[in-house]
Amino acid sequence: MARDSDAPVGVFDSGVGGLSVLGEIHQLLPNESLLYVADCGHIPYGEKTPEFIRQRCVTIAEFFREQGAKALVIACNTATVAGVADLRERYPDWPLVGMEPAVKPAAAATQSGVVGVLATTGTLQSAKFAALLDRFATDVQVITQPCPGLVELIETGDLVSPVIRQLLWRYVEPLLEARCDTIILGCTHYPFLKPLLREMIPSSITLIDTGAAVARQLGRLLNQRDLLSTSRPVEAQFWTSGNPENFRNILPVLWKKSDSVRFFGS
Ligand code: DGL
Repeated sequence: MARDSDAPVGVFDSGVGGLSVLGEIHQLLPNESLLYVADCGHIPYGEKTPEFIRQRCVTIAEFFREQGAKALVIACNTATVAGVADLRERYPDWPLVGMEPAVKPAAAATQSGVVGVLATTGTLQSAKFAALLDRFATDVQVITQPCPGLVELIETGDLVSPVIRQLLWRYVEPLLEARCDTIILGCTHYPFLKPLLREMIPSSITLIDTGAAVARQLGRLLNQRDLLSTSRPVEAQFWTSGNPENFRNILPVLWKKSDSVRFFGS
C-alpha cells in the first residue's frame, strides 16, 4: 500500500457529525486530501451494540486502506469507545486518531466544580468513559446527559427548528440546574448546535469539544512520520451508506458544496 505524504487521510463518523472534525482538520492542515465516510445507513451508533459498531469500524477502515489512506481519523466518540482498541491492534503501524469526551480539559477549566457531559448513550455507558472519569474527574462532579434523538434531527440539517430547540433544552436544563459552568460536547454532531446552545445558556458557561485537538493530534502523527502533505490537495471525496442525494443536500450547510458523494455499499 502506497503511504507517501500525498496520500489522503480517511475520516469517518456514523453520519454528518464528523464533518465538524473534518472542518478542523481542513483548517489546520489545508494541504491534506480528505476522504470521508458517513455511515448514515447505520445511524445512530449511540443506540447500537459495541460489537456492531466495532465491525463497522473494521469495514470502513478496510475501505480506506484500499483507497490508500495514509492515516485514519475516527471522527466519532461512540465509534472510538467501541472500536479504537481493535483497530490499533489490527493496524499497529497505521497512524490512527480517535476521540473521546474532553473530560481532562473540562476538569481543569471548571470553577464551580461541576461539569456537564452531553454525549450518546453508547459513549456514556462505556467502560472507556468510566475510566476517563476515574482518571481525570475525581475532584469534580460530573453530570452526564445522554441525548437520544438529537443526532437524527441534525442528520436532516435541522439546527434551529422549534423541535430541536425543545429537545436540546430538555437535555441542557438539568445541567444548568446542577450549576455546571463547563459543558462537554461529547458527540461530534453537537458542535453544529453551538449557536443554538449559546442562545440557551449563560455566556459564562464554557463549551468544550475536541475537534481542534483531534486535528492537532493528526498533524503531530503525520509530522512524526514525515507524512505531512506539501502539495495541493485533491478535493474532499465523500461516501455514505445512506442516501447520497440526502448527503449531497446537507453538505453545503455543514461543510461546502460537493458533487463527489458516492454510495458506500459495504
Ligand atoms: N457522532 C457520533 C459521536 O461522536 C455519534 C452519533 C450517533 O449516535 O450515531 O459520538
